[in-house]
Amino acid sequence: MEIRSVGVVGLGTMGAGIAQVCAEAGFATVGREVSMELAEHARGRIEHFLTRKVEKGRLEQADRDAAMARLSLTTDLADLARCDLVIEAVVEELAVKSAVFAELDAVLAADAIVATNTSALSVTELAAASGRPARVVGMHFFNPAPLMPLVEVVRTEVAADDAYETAYAFAERLGKTPIRCHDTPGFVVNRVLIPLMNDCVRVLDEARITAEDLDTGLKHGAGWPMGPCELLDLIGIDIHVHASEALYDALREPRMAPPARLVRMAQAGLLGRKTGRGFFAYG
Ligand SMILES: NC(=O)c1ccc[n+]([C@@H]2O[C@H](COP(=O)([O-])OP(=O)(O)OC[C@H]3O[C@@H](n4cnc5c(N)ncnc54)[C@H](O)[C@@H]3O)[C@@H](O)[C@H]2O)c1
Repeated sequence: MEIRSVGVVGLGTMGAGIAQVCAEAGFATVGREVSMELAEHARGRIEHFLTRKVEKGRLEQADRDAAMARLSLTTDLADLARCDLVIEAVVEELAVKSAVFAELDAVLAADAIVATNTSALSVTELAAASGRPARVVGMHFFNPAPLMPLVEVVRTEVAADDAYETAYAFAERLGKTPIRCHDTPGFVVNRVLIPLMNDCVRVLDEARITAEDLDTGLKHGAGWPMGPCELLDLIGIDIHVHASEALYDALREPRMAPPARLVRMAQAGLLGRKTGRGFFAYG
């Protein structure tokens, strides 16, 4: 199946980045937000990001302009009617996503594919509620979407092969590095990374090591490009705690539960880079 036109529903942190990647890759891209103010805010962020690429010599001005011209914005889901593939990136709430899926089902062509960028919800559950279960897949991008190469392409039990393979090929056409996986809690990377990060934080207390030394240990003893505390500050402590709780709820393994230290940090607003302080202070 040929993908020509793409819709992105929700233009927050992830959706704006995904819409940018689609427009840059040459696809006519329609972004849908709940208000034009939020949609325009996303356009501004995309414009800023692309302009910086031009300034750094990584993008031609004409390509930047062409990408911006391929992006259109709307608050009306009916404007996505002609999209061959829609990527849903609204808030991580089953009820909100299910409502979007039902609305999409009513406006899209019967063979259009709907992809969800959910991190922690069941793609299968969303597919079952969608009205077009065989044409629903997971396309799990990583933050920031324009920079992170990986996309986990998630297959449900009921996915049609052609819909799944089209989504996989589409991720490749975006210039991303897709991997195939089935719908399980945390998919692949988060399933491994979240308990690993939790172990790192537990070691902070058990070994009475400083955050600096723990990061030094993993960077210089295990070849990590970034230490775990630095990484958690970058991800956002609240985001990690939320994802960790979701994984624990699904799998009930003690390592998946967020360590008390992280829960307290999240409650105190020590969220990392975005609030200026997490494990480390940022000026
Ligand atoms: N932030 C991350 O690091 C990350 C990484 C991978 C996947 N995800 C997943 O991506 C999804 C979006 O996360 P985010 O961090 O971008 O959230 P966000 O809160 O930054 O953005 C969500 C956006 O969706 C909009 N929205 C809500 N309901 C809508 C609707 N009915 N129609 C159109 N827009 C609507 C909101 O106005 C908001 O701008 C979630 O499912 C999340 O789990 C997030």
